[in-house]
Amino acid sequence: MVELATISNGLEGIVVAETKISEVDGQLGRLIICGRDSEELAFASTFEDTCKLLWSNLSEQAPSSQELKALFGKARVDAFELLKSNPSVLSQKDPMDALRTATSNLNGGTEVSSAAYAKITAAVAVFAANWSRVKRGLPLVAPNPNLGHAADILRMLRDKEASEAEANALDTYLTTVSDHGMNASTFTARVVASTESDNVSCVVAAIGALKGPLHGGAPGPVLEMLNEIGSPENAERWITKELDSGKRIMGMGHRIYKVRDPRAAIFELAITKLERAGLQASQLPLARAVEQKAEQILAQRHPERPLKANVEFYTAVLLNSIQIPHDLFSAMFAAGRVGGWLAHVAEQRATGRLIRPASRYTGRIPQ
Ligand code: COA
Repeated sequence: MVELATISNGLEGIVVAETKISEVDGQLGRLIICGRDSEELAFASTFEDTCKLLWSNLSEQAPSSQELKALFGKARVDAFELLKSNPSVLSQKDPMDALRTATSNLNGGTEVSSAAYAKITAAVAVFAANWSRVKRGLPLVAPNPNLGHAADILRMLRDKEASEAEANALDTYLTTVSDHGMNASTFTARVVASTESDNVSCVVAAIGALKGPLHGGAPGPVLEMLNEIGSPENAERWITKELDSGKRIMGMGHRIYKVRDPRAAIFELAITKLERAGLQASQLPLARAVEQKAEQILAQRHPERPLKANVEFYTAVLLNSIQIPHDLFSAMFAAGRVGGWLAHVAEQRATGRLIRPASRYTGRIPQ
């Protein structure tokens, strides 16, 4: 039997692909998406334009911004038709379970094109928004294909148009989370793509990976934490109790970042922009105080490892400020990240190489 030299349980530090999609510098706290700094892109791009950028390496001639916006609008309408004909796909109680089920009803295919990708990407948002309506006992709301994607997500959730400032904030959110190096769900999508399976299967598998609390499931618990803490003077006691009982502080720590996650700063800025537009983000001062306390306590307990706020910490405050129900936070993450997943699917398909690592057998060997 061949003895394999090293095992890397979490694949930490293992480079599995070359990519032009995004770069995460964990030491500097820098995220580059398709050659643009995330801090700049976050406030300059609609989600559709971010997808245009993410999908710019597809072999086809890229659609214009207007064409892609129209493709998204049409795809939202198509996804809604699917929902109307089969509303039971949203019946599961867990939003990520429902998202996985509903998405798996889309047509597969291995086509690498903006049209095929927009169909899946837009559908994820329609499913997420309407799952929330079903959950709240409200009727489904049809998309408006003439609106921007972010504005229409908010409109479907509320059955009322959101302000421009709120739509911009959601564009910032979706753009910022659209890609992030070789994270677990992206790797999952690439593994599935490497088997030459279809695009929908890649996305469904990635949704399954994103669902886990160590990946995309943290912002809901962050909001619950802030609600339980209630005011800054309770932060120390609450955090200490949580850590003493062996729990982790959600929204803190990251596998790659050794400094504060740059996306936390982007969301903080997005929240202050909302405040400037007259929207109250009442949890911002509390979130800042809790972050500071958590960072201080974690530094005492883990002097060997910097544990600072990650993307999910301020996701909770940002999405809460634009009235996205907290049980929908992970699904909103999926609605943004799906753009990146599909860009990686295309990149992986282009390599034409099956991802198939090895394991070391430690079981019994028959004599
Ligand atoms: N709260 C308390 N302790 C934490 C922690 C947190 N948020 N994050 C890491 N630690 C501790 C671990 O308990 C571990 O301690 P130990 O060595 O005494 O067991 C040590 O720091 C190293 O953790 P490890 O699990 O090896 O780090 P990782 O790179 O695998 O983890 C995360 C990265 C994100 C999974 C981890 O920081 C975490 O669980 N954070 C909370 C969940 C979260 O916010 N997820 C969203 C990520 S974007």
